[in-house]
Amino acid sequence: MPGIVIVGVQWGDEGKGKATDLLGERTDWVVKFNGGNNAGHTVVIGGEKYALHLLPSGILSPGVNAVIGNGVVIDLEVLFQELDALGARGIDTSKLRVSANAHVITHYHRTLDKVTERFLGKRQIGTTGRGIGPAYADKINRVGIRVQDLFDESILRQKVEAALDQKNHLLVKIFNRRAISADEIVEDLLSYADRVRPMVCDTGLLLNDALDRGEVVVFEGGQATMLDVDHGTYPFVTSSSATAGGAATGSGVGPNRLDRIVGIVKAYTTRVGAGPFPTELFDEKGEWLRKTGFEYGTTTGRLRRTGWYDAPITRYATRVNGITDLVMTKLDVLTGLDEIPVCVAYDVDGTRFEEVPVNQTDFHHAKPIYETFPGWSEDITGVRRFEDLPQTAQDYVLALEEMSNTRISVIGVGPARDAVIVRHDLVD
Ligand code: IMP
Repeated sequence: MPGIVIVGVQWGDEGKGKATDLLGERTDWVVKFNGGNNAGHTVVIGGEKYALHLLPSGILSPGVNAVIGNGVVIDLEVLFQELDALGARGIDTSKLRVSANAHVITHYHRTLDKVTERFLGKRQIGTTGRGIGPAYADKINRVGIRVQDLFDESILRQKVEAALDQKNHLLVKIFNRRAISADEIVEDLLSYADRVRPMVCDTGLLLNDALDRGEVVVFEGGQATMLDVDHGTYPFVTSSSATAGGAATGSGVGPNRLDRIVGIVKAYTTRVGAGPFPTELFDEKGEWLRKTGFEYGTTTGRLRRTGWYDAPITRYATRVNGITDLVMTKLDVLTGLDEIPVCVAYDVDGTRFEEVPVNQTDFHHAKPIYETFPGWSEDITGVRRFEDLPQTAQDYVLALEEMSNTRISVIGVGPARDAVIVRHDLVD
């Protein structure tokens, strides 16, 4: 079972880094296939906390080959900041490989991200402001800059000039900002060329060869299903393919090489940024979830919106991704609640919807229909076998498993690396 995809089920921040880390010792390769430094993984190893935004979390496991695939947009300044920070803490990052076809995020992408959001006013997406959307827009508009362009100055200059042509009109005439000079951008990008060059290769070839040898390749998705540009709550989404299909296009392997699709789902729900969120709580329970689960954005420090578990969303994610296994994280956060509501369906203006409505307006109007489960008060952070969980915690997990149409193979019971209950091996 060498090709394993990890995707978020909800709106991100499900704790995917922990799942990648769990596979760590048996992983030969870990690939980031979408997104950029809008992501945020927090991994705790030996009491030390690592917050990564751009690098795949597998980079923290010794012996793992980390790859940034063609589907990623790379802010080179952030790449080297993260590498330097890990180097300073004694982490060896020399095995990192970067796709020659990945696009780069430049100064003008970051600027456009921020001014466009401001321009949208109350229709804001609530982006991370890292230039992700504008970089992907350039890619699709065929005016993007790829990593390989850094190695040919004359091509680079032509491409930067072409990319800036329309943008400077926009910046000056619409957004009232100063024009950005091509020289400034070219100089900045070239300053990274020598350092990035040894990392750059045909990563698709590298990964196909690894799979041919039977090595274990983990495809680590950034963001999550409900933030996917095609399948998420558009337009309140990120600009990349965060679902399992994106693992193939974003890394250059065929879909038939993806053997296992692991969905990461929190035992409750959170969301950063704007957009519909049917189970969102606006009361003290929501605040309690935020505090207890430490739900503050890793990337922007924004408060995460919090709410109860939404079973139709997990069913939807299972279908869209072809999820074979779920990893349920943060079950311990629910400890201490007398009862735990779970959304089992929606009420949309008097009509019951069992599944996520296809129509955006319906989803905006969806009111959760809850079923309530008894809680537990025992500390579960030390539990390592499912049958040792309090009966009500077992019942909660089993009920969610049935509603999700997929087995819950791993349960996270605490922030530490080993705080997991493994019911089914993810690599067999
Ligand atoms: P962008 O990815 O910066 O364009 O932001 C688009 C939307 O995706 C916003 O609502 C962000 O808050 C959200 N988003 C992007 N990356 C993450 C993530 O890693 N976790 C949670 N939300 C994210």
